Amino acid sequence: MRYFLLIFVLCAVVVVAVAGKRGSISRRPPIEVFPDMDRQPKLRPQTPNNFFADGKSSRLPIAGTIAWDDHYQDTPLNTGRVSGTTNFVEVLPVEVSSKLLARGQQRFNINCSPCHGAQGEGNGVTKKLGMSVVANLHDKRIVELPDGEIFNTITYGKGLMGSYAANVTVEDRWAIISYLRALQLSRLGSIDDVPDQLRATLKK
Ligand code: HEC
Repeated sequence: MRYFLLIFVLCAVVVVAVAGKRGSISRRPPIEVFPDMDRQPKLRPQTPNNFFADGKSSRLPIAGTIAWDDHYQDTPLNTGRVSGTTNFVEVLPVEVSSKLLARGQQRFNINCSPCHGAQGEGNGVTKKLGMSVVANLHDKRIVELPDGEIFNTITYGKGLMGSYAANVTVEDRWAIISYLRALQLSRLGSIDDVPDQLRATLKK
């Protein structure tokens, strides 16, 4: 019984000593069992530091960095939509040139042809590896999509197709779309597109 009392009093003292101080303010540093990364050797932004030649602790954003503000988001070039609405633009908002098409062809072959195939038929190399539902970009439905909707698909992905925003810049997305339209047009020609004097030379 005597030992019990002794231990009981000791426990009470320990509990009061440890828990009783909680919430009170002290100038002395607390005993830290788990420091939880409270203190880290790091540089705060906007403070001087002589590690870099220009004496600043922060680095400037890389050239070409664009502020993510409303203006940036809401232009047809960036969203594929008519400003202030959710409607997709029918026609791409950049000027089409042979340079743009050539760039689009190169980017399409790198980023899209592995799945959609070099001709856009949906029979890229991934088909052999078991990806069987890749869209044929010559489907009437896809030919009829507004340019802005295709931009949206490249940016955010659609269904089983993931986003290519990280791989393809905004300008290159439009270049790819211009090239894709040329690919589609190459399948939509009719005899009427052939000049009269050349028709005879066509193989039947
Ligand atoms: C990893 C494979 C893969 C790559 C790479 C890929 N796609 Fe796709 N894409 C798909 C699949 C799969 C679908 C069908 C998605 C669905 O309907 O679920 C699709 C669908 C589409 C569609 C039809 C969307 C619709 O409205 O139904 C378009 C347009 C398209 N892709 C364009 C592109 C372009 C342009 C690129 C290159 C920037 C690209 N894709 C790269 C797999 C891919």
